[in-house]
Amino acid sequence: MQAWMCETLDGPASLRWRERPTPEPGADEVVVAIHAASLNFPDLLIVQGKYQFRPELPFTPGAEFAGVVERVGSAVSHLAPGQRVAVLAGTGGFGTHACVKALQVMPLPGDFALRDAAAFAFTYGTAHHALMDRAALQHGETVLVLGAAGGVGTAAIQLAKAAGATVIAAASTDAKCGLCRDLGADHAINYESTDLREAVKAATRGRGVDVVFDPVGGRFAEPAFRSIAWRGRYCVIGFADGQIPALPWNLPLLKGASIVGVFWGDFVRREPEANVRMLGALATLYARGLVKPVIDTVLPMSRLPEAYERLARREILGKLVLVPEALL
Ligand SMILES: NC(=O)c1ccc[n+]([C@@H]2O[C@H](COP(=O)([O-])OP(=O)(O)OC[C@H]3O[C@@H](n4cnc5c(N)ncnc54)[C@H](OP(=O)(O)O)[C@@H]3O)[C@@H](O)[C@H]2O)c1
Repeated sequence: MQAWMCETLDGPASLRWRERPTPEPGADEVVVAIHAASLNFPDLLIVQGKYQFRPELPFTPGAEFAGVVERVGSAVSHLAPGQRVAVLAGTGGFGTHACVKALQVMPLPGDFALRDAAAFAFTYGTAHHALMDRAALQHGETVLVLGAAGGVGTAAIQLAKAAGATVIAAASTDAKCGLCRDLGADHAINYESTDLREAVKAATRGRGVDVVFDPVGGRFAEPAFRSIAWRGRYCVIGFADGQIPALPWNLPLLKGASIVGVFWGDFVRREPEANVRMLGALATLYARGLVKPVIDTVLPMSRLPEAYERLARREILGKLVLVPEALL
């Protein structure tokens, strides 16, 4: 097998494509032949040593992937060779094969395309946990999505629309705003060329939004919070901008509003049964055609460094998927 190896925490430029010994599954493990892996923002943080957890070096990045089970360990009974699966293992996806714990492997229904499955659980899981669980979004409410053309942003637009909400998408270019409208956003604001607060005020006729979904942080957080309606919920998803914002505490007081932290990875660990129920609900939405990952580009696995550059330059619309050369 071959895989991209992170040997030092110096970012994507220091990754190396290496020949590796073919893995032997332990009793509770399976070996998966990878058919597709997607790039998520945390894949960038993890090779810089900036993510919440630091795997032991060397490791193969790639949190999320899909493929076909090749071999199963002696204690694994619910998976079999030949089965199509999605995997959320935190690492291991940017290669031809991965050896993972059977618990991290989800069997796929027949109608789930492998490339969609490789670009699904991380973003839709995060967006669903944020909107439906943490923010308790209701039919008829209004949601403002920042970074709306990115991975979790596009998932949030689709899920909020599926829940019967009005969606205001905000992104940095007109092309990104166009994609958001195509995905069903009712309004799209270019926050680089337009005053975010004024534009939200106009779109909501001065009422404000019920829920803010913020994976960006930085300078848009305060105007977004000031755009919140009475009893609004502000979902803190991440800080793609690099800056963790600070907020005057009088703002939540004045709006009777809540700042809601969202940490899907820990939700998976702490509430595994609730997560399994949520993933089942998401698979149903996919089967009904109500959600579908937006795949910007499919690149050969060898072009991972280019994929990372595009992520860092904010050029990816939706998700970028990598496929081993032999399967292109
Ligand atoms: N809390 C959780 O459980 C959880 C789970 C998954 C992801 N996250 C976090 O959510 C954030 C977004 O993840 P994602 O996978 O959606 O990433 P993504 O696809 O790269 O989208 C992030 C968006 O952020 C905006 N952005 C603003 N400044 C940026 C910068 N300096 N560099 C890159 N993007 C920038 C870009 O939109 P514009 O160009 O339109 O501004 C970009 O489309 C990340 O911080 C990630 O760690 C959190």
